[in-house]
Amino acid sequence: MRIAITGSIATDHLMTFPGRFGDQLVADQLHRVSLSFLVDDLQVRRGGCAANISFGMGCLGLSPILVGAVGADFADYRSWLERHGVDCASVHVSETFHTARFLCTTDEEHNQIASFYTGAMAEARLIELQPIADRVGGLDLVLVSPNDPDAMLRHTDEARQRGIPFAADPSQQLARMPGEDIRQLVDGAAYLFGNDYEKGLIEQKTGWSDEEVLGRVGVRVTTLGPKGVVIDRKGEPSLHIPSAPELGKADPTGVGDAFRSGFLAGLAWGLSLERCGQIGNLTATHVLERVGGQEYELRQRVFLERFSAAYGAEAAAEVAQNVRCHYA
Ligand SMILES: Nc1ncnc2c1ncn2[C@@H]1O[C@H](COP(=O)(O)OP(=O)(O)OP(=O)(O)O)[C@@H](O)[C@H]1O
Ligand SMILES: [Mg+2]
Repeated sequence: MRIAITGSIATDHLMTFPGRFGDQLVADQLHRVSLSFLVDDLQVRRGGCAANISFGMGCLGLSPILVGAVGADFADYRSWLERHGVDCASVHVSETFHTARFLCTTDEEHNQIASFYTGAMAEARLIELQPIADRVGGLDLVLVSPNDPDAMLRHTDEARQRGIPFAADPSQQLARMPGEDIRQLVDGAAYLFGNDYEKGLIEQKTGWSDEEVLGRVGVRVTTLGPKGVVIDRKGEPSLHIPSAPELGKADPTGVGDAFRSGFLAGLAWGLSLERCGQIGNLTATHVLERVGGQEYELRQRVFLERFSAAYGAEAAAEVAQNVRCHYA
């Protein structure tokens, strides 16, 4: 099964300021702010929804096709993703802009000053799916994850027109998109992903009820944080799959993306929706245990042992026939 993962590709530059922003701001001088914070830590994390999701699928042994727009500075990031099995041949490289970047400085009281530079991401709207399908011999599923909103609409339209099944994952872009656009992203999707808050937001903004949304998609996958995931199909009882026990909690950034990596891997292997949800949950747990969205390692033996402990030996045996983790 050939799956294209469209969406954002970005890096996060995270700094810590060992003081308080408030002490540097002079109340009657706010009309001419000129401040420089001497920070004592810089972490650069690879991120972006499509890159995170593709990375996780690569770690499970698949070769997902990453589709998004970056700048000339992408070289290092590209080799990292390729080393983890991601097909980056269809990534569009802008001639003008840098790769999208999130810059955030946090002070000692957890106040934050951040900027998000969209950069090359705006060019994702120029990407056409057909040449990608031609290159790889056809696409079986296209995931439309958070990206330049015009790109999300375009990929969905093109998939619909060409009869390629698509999965809608509007997630954090729901907040800024009008209801009419959200309807276009969701209507006719083979799969719809979101957390429980986003499920409510989709209903509120589209004006469609829970039932109506379900009637317009094949399968609705709603993640519930520590409570796991619920999978709904019209006319069938919902499946609730509890989360996989975590060994520790470091940072939730990227859990939702990792869930999608695991879920889509299960689909690619032709496993049941229950298995897909379980693989998603366990992959997400690995991210929770590390700081950053791509800092985790999947090890074949450990992954299967943990899977078996969480969901039983029989289920683990099905996964074992398919999963080929990046590390032994
Ligand atoms: N505390 C936890 N323990 C175990 N698993 C968790 C925990 N929190 C999240 N997960 C796993 O991660 C999945 C996704 O979590 P969640 O519903 O919070 O996604 P999200 O809100 O989209 O996250 P984000 O957008 O911040 O990445 C859950 O379905 C579950 O499998
Ligand atoms: Mg999310």
